[in-house]
Amino acid sequence: MYILGISCFYHDSAACLLKDGKIISAVQEERFTRKKHDLSFPANAIKYCLSEAGIKIDDVSYVGFYEKPFIKFERILTTYIATFPRSFPSFIKAIPLWLHEKLWIPNIIKTKLGYKGDILYIDHHLCHAASSFLVSPFEEAAILTIDGVGEWETATYGVGRGARIELFKDLSFPHSLGLLYNAFTYYLGFKVNSAEYKVMGLAPYGKPVYYELIMKELVALKPDGSFKMNMKYFAYDYGLTMTNKNFYRLFGRPPRKPETTLEKFHEDVAASLQKATEEIILRMANHLYDKTKLENLCLAGGVALNCVANGRIVKETKFKNIFIQPASGDAGSAVGVAAYIYNSLLGNKRSYVMKDAFLGPEYSNDEIKKYLDKNDIEYKKYSPDELIKTSARLINGQKVVGWFEGRMEFGPRALGARSILADPRNPDAKNIVNSKIKFREEFRPFAPTVLEEKAAEYFDLELPSPFMLLVAQVRPDKRFMPSITHVDGSARIQTIRKEDNPLYYSLIEEFYRISGCPVVLNTSFNLWGEPLVMTPHDAFLCFMRSGLDHLVMGNFILDKSRMKALKETVDWKTRFELD
Ligand SMILES: [Fe+2]
Repeated sequence: MYILGISCFYHDSAACLLKDGKIISAVQEERFTRKKHDLSFPANAIKYCLSEAGIKIDDVSYVGFYEKPFIKFERILTTYIATFPRSFPSFIKAIPLWLHEKLWIPNIIKTKLGYKGDILYIDHHLCHAASSFLVSPFEEAAILTIDGVGEWETATYGVGRGARIELFKDLSFPHSLGLLYNAFTYYLGFKVNSAEYKVMGLAPYGKPVYYELIMKELVALKPDGSFKMNMKYFAYDYGLTMTNKNFYRLFGRPPRKPETTLEKFHEDVAASLQKATEEIILRMANHLYDKTKLENLCLAGGVALNCVANGRIVKETKFKNIFIQPASGDAGSAVGVAAYIYNSLLGNKRSYVMKDAFLGPEYSNDEIKKYLDKNDIEYKKYSPDELIKTSARLINGQKVVGWFEGRMEFGPRALGARSILADPRNPDAKNIVNSKIKFREEFRPFAPTVLEEKAAEYFDLELPSPFMLLVAQVRPDKRFMPSITHVDGSARIQTIRKEDNPLYYSLIEEFYRISGCPVVLNTSFNLWGEPLVMTPHDAFLCFMRSGLDHLVMGNFILDKSRMKALKETVDWKTRFELD
C-alpha cells in the first residue's frame, strides 16, 4: 500500500511516499526549484517520489495533507476580527492567497496530480508528533511538539504507544515559542522562518543581560512550561511585522536593518532570547516527564531544530533517550501525515525506524559521467577504495572538498551526501569556507561529523546525534579543532555509524588513520542563500562559483586548478535571496 504525504503553502513544502509503512522517499520542493524554503505545491517532489517507486498516482491509496486548512483559516479570520481595524493591511495581503489557493487545496491536489481518491487532513501538531514518534525506535515515548503555529496549537504534550498517539495538553496562538523566536529573528535583522539558526549561532557571543526583561515583560511563564505572551509588544497577530513600537521602546532601539553591523547589543539580545527559549523548553520537558514518567522523548516542530536546547534536554532532564527526525520542521510533517494514516488511522503495526536521512534523489556513476562528458569537464575516475584514500588525503592536505555521494538528505542539514568537508584542525578553515564558499557572516560555527565510537572521547555527548540536532561541549583536551568549536566551547555534532552511510564513514575513518583526528568539518553543499545542491549540475555550479578546491562526485574527482572558468552572463548572487 502506498501513501503520499504532502506539506505545503506555508514554508518548506515537501512530499513523502510510504510503501507499507516504510519511507521510500522524502524530499523538499526547494531542491528542485532552487528557491530556498519554497512553499509552493510540491509538484516536482511528488513526481520524484512516484518515479522512485516506479508507480503512478493511481497506485496511491491515500493522500494526506499536513494540516486542516479550514480550521487554520478560521483562526486567521478570528484573529483579524479581534484586532480590527489594526489588522486591515495584513488582512488585505493575506486573504487573496487564502481565497485563491489555500482554501482550494483539495482541488489543487486533485487537479495537479490527477488524483481521484481520498485526501485526508490531519491536525498539524498531530502530524508533527507522528513525524517523530511513529518513525522512532521507541515502542512507547513522551512527545513534545513546538513550532510557530498550526491550526491553533503552538505546542503540544503527548504520549505515543505502539501505533497510537494521544496529545493531552496544548498551548494556543498567539502564545507561541516559535513565534517568539521568529519575532526576535525579525528584530535582529534576519529573515523570519529561515535564519533562526543564525540567532542561535549569534547567542554564545553575547551575555543574557535582557533575560529578566524578556521573562518579566514579554513572557509570563508557568512551572509546567506553558506561558502567555504580552501581546502589547508584538504585531504578528494583526500587522505585517513581528514586533511593534512598544517592543522597540522596551529594548531602546528599532530593529536592526538587514546586513548592517552586528553590535554587542544584538549579541546580548540573541543570548537573552536563547536563554529564555531553553528555560521554557526545559520546563516543558520536565513537566512532560513528570506527567508520563517515560524515559523516551520524541521532539518535533520547527523549534526542535534548536539543537542547543536539545542538548540541554539530554543533559538536564530525566529523559534517557531522545529522538528527533532530521526534518523536524514542517517539511517533516509530510512524513508525519503519511505515517499517521498508515499506522494510527489504518491500525497497521509499526515496522519502520528512520535511521538515516538519505531519502532524496541519487545519480549513478553513468549519469554523472554523462553529465561531465557532455559539458567537456575534466575529471579523474577512481575505484571506491582509491576515491576514499584520495579524498581523505585532500582534506588532510587542507583542501576544501565538495562531497556529492548517494541519495540527498531530507531536512535542512547536510549529513554526508551533499556536504562540504574540510579539516577541523585548520584554524583558517572556518574563514575560508565562510568567505570563499558560503559568502556569509563570520560568527556562525561549522559543524563536525565524528565517528560514533569516538564521539564521547571528543565531545561531552551522552547520546548519538545522527541528524546533527544536538549541541555539546568539545572536551577541553580536544580543543584543537578551532573551525568546529564555537566561542563557548560547544559544537553542533553529527555522529556517524558505518551502517547508516558506509562511504562517508569510511572517508572519516581513513582521515582518522592518516591524521589522528576522527572528525571532519561538515557544512551544507550550497552557496549563500541557495538550497542544498541536488543534481550533478547544481554541484558543479556551486563548485565553480565558490572557492572549493575539489569536487568528489560518484567515483570521480574534479580539480579546480584544472577547470576552465565558468562563463555566466548573470551574477549568481542576484538569483538567491539572503536570509
Ligand atoms: Fe509546524
